[in-house]
Amino acid sequence: MPKVTFTNFGAEGDKTVEFEHGKLPYDEHGKPESILDVAMHFKIPVEHACGGKCACTTCHVIVTAGEANLSEADDDEMDRLDTAADLTIHSRLACMAVVTGDVTVKLPAWNRNYVSEGGGSMNLGSAIPVPKSNGV
Ligand code: FES
Repeated sequence: MPKVTFTNFGAEGDKTVEFEHGKLPYDEHGKPESILDVAMHFKIPVEHACGGKCACTTCHVIVTAGEANLSEADDDEMDRLDTAADLTIHSRLACMAVVTGDVTVKLPAWNRNYVSEGGGSMNLGSAIPVPKSNGV
């Protein structure tokens, strides 16, 4: 039974969930048994503006352990990730990365404070540079 640990996804602190392959009810959140699908099933807030269709980057997560226990990223995911803020070599789209074993993921800094699913405004924190003075 794969375990997925989410390490900075809200005020409750780290949360580890596990599921049995083939037994997770699919509810159209990205690929079946993707990180997003698992997160939604266990009510862990992961933003997914495009509905898990690899058409945005709001589900961007950084894998901190168990990268080999995820499906390989295909060209569509890699192309989409190229447009993500705070990209790392361990970045994945939660809707595309299918869990095959134990993994640990965290949110990138730019969307850590996002008030997910319930609405609210996005706090991009230091992801938005301070405007430079134009000397006026
Ligand atoms: S939810 Fe839009 S790319 Fe994953």
